[in-house]
Amino acid sequence: MQTIVWDESLSVGVAKMDAQHQIWIERFNKVMEAVSERRGATEISKTLGFLVDYTEEHFGLEEARMAETAYPDVDAHKDRHNEIRLTLDGIVEDFREDGPTEELAGDVETFLGNWLIKHIREVDMKLGAFLAAQ
Ligand SMILES: [Fe+2]
Ligand SMILES: [Fe+2]
Repeated sequence: MQTIVWDESLSVGVAKMDAQHQIWIERFNKVMEAVSERRGATEISKTLGFLVDYTEEHFGLEEARMAETAYPDVDAHKDRHNEIRLTLDGIVEDFREDGPTEELAGDVETFLGNWLIKHIREVDMKLGAFLAAQ
């Protein structure tokens, strides 16, 4: 099972964003644990629900900060958020239809590498640098 621990290499230089990324990662890890241990459907959907809710809360904060500061890359950043929202929705949908399959475990793991971590490192880093310079 692949989980991740937040460390300084993931810091975007803005305390509030870092704090939220830590919670985001924790919630992701709970999903990963529940799926890979094939816990009951109720528990898996609960962890997925927490992840989806927190993703929304976190994206809401970043999108509000981008609007307040007239961040120049706001559209591209929001597009990336929307892709993550769609990817997560797809995972939730697949789980509802087919349960905790091997494929779902793989998709959740891919979500970690391709979306969550990549987004923090590539997209949020730029936003963090911009906000820190404000
Ligand atoms: Fe972001
Ligand atoms: Fe973020």
